Amino acid sequence: MSKNIRIAPSILSADFARLGEEIRAVDEAGADYIHIDVMDGHFVPNITIGPLVVKALRGFSEKPFDTHLMISPADPYLKNFADAGADIISIHPEAGPDFIGSLKTIKDLGKKAGIVINPGTPVAVLDEVMDIVDLILVMTVNPGFGGQSFIESQLEKITAARALINASGRDIDLEVDGGITPETAKLAIAAGADVLVAGTATFTGGPLRYAENISALRG
Ligand code: DX5
Ligand code: ZN
Repeated sequence: MSKNIRIAPSILSADFARLGEEIRAVDEAGADYIHIDVMDGHFVPNITIGPLVVKALRGFSEKPFDTHLMISPADPYLKNFADAGADIISIHPEAGPDFIGSLKTIKDLGKKAGIVINPGTPVAVLDEVMDIVDLILVMTVNPGFGGQSFIESQLEKITAARALINASGRDIDLEVDGGITPETAKLAIAAGADVLVAGTATFTGGPLRYAENISALRG
């Protein structure tokens, strides 16, 4: 894989009492994106953070805020996240009746639009959005919690998404999220991923380990 691998620490595994400092620390440790998991206790069985917190964190890093919305509906909140400072806004197609419309709204807000494929979501859903999306996120766990194990059967989806991206000729990130470790990172990269989300693997061991943890994921 010649393409540059980018690492997106998921702040879900950070110390929530010190989130701003945690973001600054992973930024300085070499993070490429800051991955923000937004959960509503409805689309997924967990509640995390909303636009007010994203806004409060914005000043702690200039790296792209990669905002993963696990909320339904997402449409009423897209502008709030854009205004709060999200750079990439990703949605799940199951979150609303018109996900293509949601992606267009994100683009109209001047942000990068991402689509997320759950382990149970067929890859065919991508066919309709290859001309719109800036990022495809393949989940390698069922969303809701950090610290789960990588589902290897999703590697085929990463390979399929890579083929679609190459055929499109467009500049689309292929991101993988869930259970990334130095070992599973290699598998994801070999399948064609170029952005790796890593919560547990980044934040384990505390701030003195972040740089080492992040570089261990680059393959
Ligand atoms: C799961 C989230 C992931 C998660 C990753 O719903 O989307 O971003 O925090 O955590 P790890 O890297 O610990 O699997
Ligand atoms: Zn995520």
